[in-house]
Amino acid sequence: METQQQLDDFQARIDAGEKIEPKDWMPERYREQIIRMGSQHAHSEIVGMLPEGNWISRAPSLKRKLVLLAKVQDEAGHGLYLYSAIETLGVRRSELIDQYLYGNAKYSSIFNYPTLSYADVCIIGWLVDGAAIVNQTKLAHSSYGPYARANLRICKEESFHKKQGYEMVAKLAEGTPAQRKMVQSAVDRFWWPTLMMFGPNDSNSPNSAELLKWQVKLNTNDELRQHFVDRVVMEAEAVGLTLPDPDLKFNDETGHWEFGEIPWDEFWDVVKGNGVMNRERMKSRRKAHEDGAWVREAAQAYARKKNLSREKAS
Ligand code: 3HC
Repeated sequence: METQQQLDDFQARIDAGEKIEPKDWMPERYREQIIRMGSQHAHSEIVGMLPEGNWISRAPSLKRKLVLLAKVQDEAGHGLYLYSAIETLGVRRSELIDQYLYGNAKYSSIFNYPTLSYADVCIIGWLVDGAAIVNQTKLAHSSYGPYARANLRICKEESFHKKQGYEMVAKLAEGTPAQRKMVQSAVDRFWWPTLMMFGPNDSNSPNSAELLKWQVKLNTNDELRQHFVDRVVMEAEAVGLTLPDPDLKFNDETGHWEFGEIPWDEFWDVVKGNGVMNRERMKSRRKAHEDGAWVREAAQAYARKKNLSREKAS
C-alpha cells in the first residue's frame, strides 16, 4: 500500500528537481509509466533502423553509405541504452520485446511510412531526427535518472544525425531539377507524419498530466511540436524548400509560426496498426528476432559457463 505521506514525499523530491534512482521508493504508477514510455521509445529506435536501412545497399556513394551505416547502427545503440535504463526498474528486456513483437506495446508512428527515394533518408535525418532531438533534449532532464542519462547520450548522437541529414538535403536542394523535385517530394510526404511524432494534441493526451506532474515529460506534446515548427520553418527557407502547409504563417503577437490542422485520423489509423508499412515493419522485426534466437541462447549458455567457472574458482 502506498501511503499519502510516501506520495507527498515523492512529489516533494520531484518538485525539488531531484533525480529518482532505481532503488528509491516510487509510486507503482510512476514505475509503470516509465516502463510504458521508455520501452515504447526503445522499440521506436529499433524499428527506426528499417526505413533507412532500406537504402544502405543503394546509397549513392561510398561516403554516403558509410555515414548511413553508422547512423543506422547508432539507432540500434539508442535502443540498447533505453532498454538498459528501463531494466533498472526490474523488468526483463525479453518481456518488453515480447510486448512489442507479440503484444500491444507501441512504437513511433513515423516509422510506418515507406522510404521511396534516397531523398527520404535525407529528410528523415533532417526532420525526423530533428523532431527527436527537440523531444529528447527535454527528456534528458526527465526525473528518472537512468532514463534521463540514456537520453543525454542519445542526443549527442542525434545531433550528428540531424546535421548529416540537413547537409544532404541542402546538397539535393541546390542540385539538378530532378534532385530538387525528389527532395521536395520527400518533404511533402514526411512533413505531417513528422508533426505527428510529438503525439496527440494536449487535449487528447491521456498520459500527459501524470507525466508532467512527475516531470517525466517536461513539456506538453503541443509545446514541443510548436518549438519544432518554429525551428524548421527557417531551416526550410534557408535551403529553398516549401513546407506543404498553406496555413503556415508567423504570428507577430505570439512570436510563433501557426500551422494547419494535422490529419489526426491518419495518425490514429497508423497508431492502430493500419499504416502503409505497419504490417511489413512488424514482420521484419519478428523475423529478425526469431532468426536471432540461437545467438541469444549461445550468449546465455556462455554466460552460464563463465559463472560456473567463476564459482568453482572462488
Ligand atoms: N506514435 C505511436 N504512438 C503514439 C505516438 C506516436 N507518435 N504519440 C502518442 N502515441 C501513443 C502513446 O504511446 C499513448 O498510447 P499508450 O498509452 O498505449 O502507450 C497514446 O498514443 C496517447 O498519447 P499520449 O500523448 O498520452 O502519450 P505520452 O504522454 O506517452 O506522449 C510521446 C507520447 C510524446 C511520443 C512520448 O511517449 C515520448 O516522448 N516518448 C519518448 C520519445 C519517443 O518515443 N520518440 C520516438 C521517436 S524515436 C526516434 O525518433 C528515433 C530517431 O533516432 C530517428
